[in-house]
Amino acid sequence: MSQPLLQAINLSHAFDYPLYHDVSLQISAGESIAVMGRSGSGKSTLLHTLAGLIEPLSGEVQLFGENLYEMKEEQKERLRRYRTGIVFQQHYLFKGMTALENVEIAALLAEEPIDPELFERLEIAEVMGQKVSELSGGQQQRVSLARVLSKKPEIIFADEPTGNLDRETSELVMAMMMEYIRKHDAALFIVTHDEEIASLCGLCYRLEGQKLSRCEKEV
Ligand SMILES: Nc1ncnc2c1ncn2[C@@H]1O[C@H](COP(=O)(O)OP(=O)(O)O)[C@@H](O)[C@H]1O
Ligand SMILES: [Mg+2]
Repeated sequence: MSQPLLQAINLSHAFDYPLYHDVSLQISAGESIAVMGRSGSGKSTLLHTLAGLIEPLSGEVQLFGENLYEMKEEQKERLRRYRTGIVFQQHYLFKGMTALENVEIAALLAEEPIDPELFERLEIAEVMGQKVSELSGGQQQRVSLARVLSKKPEIIFADEPTGNLDRETSELVMAMMMEYIRKHDAALFIVTHDEEIASLCGLCYRLEGQKLSRCEKEV
């Protein structure tokens, strides 16, 4: 079996209070993992740690076979630019630019062409010329996903990517991420409140009582 794309070993984190201890998981190509849990349980912190943005208090993250927090900053930046994609809970789009310009910047940096069909399928084609600040939360969320998919990452980290979407659009977004990982042999790590969304992933975990455990119901 090929080596996992990502391996997290005994991660712990705390801010004002302990968030989690001894969190271990791995993700291989083609796999999708959902993490559920209450607000404040540390889901976003865990996602940021796996993606290279927050160093864990203890434990380690192996990304593409290398220790993420022993890498030089430039190497981590290269990984973020070319090999991983993060859909942030707060989007972090450039608000004064158009939606299209936001996607163009990411695609340019990753040296990937833009596929306009992506905008059609995400039902944002008509708004791509508008400034991000004029878009609804749900539209911004899909622009953010378009930006990440355009980079052609090997792992997508998505933090509540359907948080602002209605049921139908949530399912559409989820279907597109699943199709993407299938086609590109990539992996998906998603944080969500939504049981139905989590159930579409291959594996579901719950972050609860400072531990990560498999969802009780086999989903
Ligand atoms: N950079 C930070 N500094 C201090 N506290 C933080 C920071 N980031 C998150 N927290 C706190 O850690 C807790 C978990 O946050 P978060 O990981 O965002 O949880 P979740 O995504 O599950 O809602 C929250 O109480 C939050 O206020
Ligand atoms: Mg969060």
